[in-house]
Amino acid sequence: MDGRNDPQEDQSHLDQLSLFSPEMMDVLARRFIAAGRYSDALKCYDGIDKKIGANILTLGKRASVLFAMGQADEANAAFAELKMKILKESPNALAMYEVAENDLSIALQNDRLETNHNESYWDDKEKIESTWRHYYLSFKNSGRYTNVGCQINGALIEGIKTTLKEDSSLGIVFNFGTFCGFPDYNLSKEFPDTQWVGYDRETLAIEMNRKAFQADNLLYIDGDFHRLMARLKPKRPEQSVMLCHVRSFTEMMPKKFQDVYQTARERGIKWLVGTELIGPNPISGRYFQSGVDDKRSDIISNQTTSHDYEYFLDQAGYALVNQTDEPIVSYHAVPVAFPLMPFLYSVVFRTYRARLKA
Ligand SMILES: C[S@@+](CC[C@H](N)C(=O)[O-])C[C@H]1O[C@@H](n2cnc3c(N)ncnc32)[C@H](O)[C@@H]1O
Repeated sequence: MDGRNDPQEDQSHLDQLSLFSPEMMDVLARRFIAAGRYSDALKCYDGIDKKIGANILTLGKRASVLFAMGQADEANAAFAELKMKILKESPNALAMYEVAENDLSIALQNDRLETNHNESYWDDKEKIESTWRHYYLSFKNSGRYTNVGCQINGALIEGIKTTLKEDSSLGIVFNFGTFCGFPDYNLSKEFPDTQWVGYDRETLAIEMNRKAFQADNLLYIDGDFHRLMARLKPKRPEQSVMLCHVRSFTEMMPKKFQDVYQTARERGIKWLVGTELIGPNPISGRYFQSGVDDKRSDIISNQTTSHDYEYFLDQAGYALVNQTDEPIVSYHAVPVAFPLMPFLYSVVFRTYRARLKA
């Protein structure tokens, strides 16, 4: 698995394993993905299918790997098969997406900032508490390639660390939509000379963070984003600021997304680093692609939206420095109705770093 094996030898091991255990093949696929060996991960999914037949898990994951490899047509074909399978079992699944699609188009017409149709999810105190604890335990006990939250936050952390290496003047890192701020806490210990700020509109999550994680260079804040930005100043004027976000902009409507980036530019924030979901739209059956689709945002589940990140960065005055796509390795445990869940097996995590244009 370290890249030094003879590929022929790998293949014969994989064939044998596939006859033995589909679960083992899925674990192997994760390890291949962790090592950047996406073609070998695809062979694992072929092996599972040979043993138990094509299934929603391998179809979704195969689509995700193919899209991350830049093979959009093949990814769309894998997704089409997945969609057919789900609709056979849950013919009403698409109706749920239509509600979300309709909400997105009305939001675009009215410049609305947030989703409307499922706003009650986070209104429930018990749900916030239990979701926070679930995230906390995942961050505490899971590895990057065994849990979806760890994988997506791991990708963001890589982007943050690369930027910290490149820019020694970075004074503040502001995490938009932190929720359970365990990753901010870990980073604050690893980088004691940087000020870490975890921001979320959920006051309860922020209070739980303050109780659980304390460090001199760490703050958790809620409240009005614009007012906070106006007050956000590094210790020394020559220091730069980063705004980062992970799986939080997928919850927002395009207008809000634009608003956050434009505010960042007005405040002179030098770096934007984001890891967000990109996925296929279940109604069109196709992956959303920047520069190919004329849309700027597209629904991928009843509360998740892909955005044209490159476009919004450029509009706000930021230049893309680099961008990577990573296939999802485990299932995405989000509060969506069951028939919609398998669609989320096919998302990829896109991480990008962008810098304020001169
Ligand atoms: C799916 S959670 C992700 C949390 C965390 N970034 C992670 O990856 O574990 C999305 C978070 O974004 C926050 N969020 C969404 N829209 C927001 C907004 N407009 N202002 C502040 N926070 C927002 C939500 O409250 C929620 O905590």
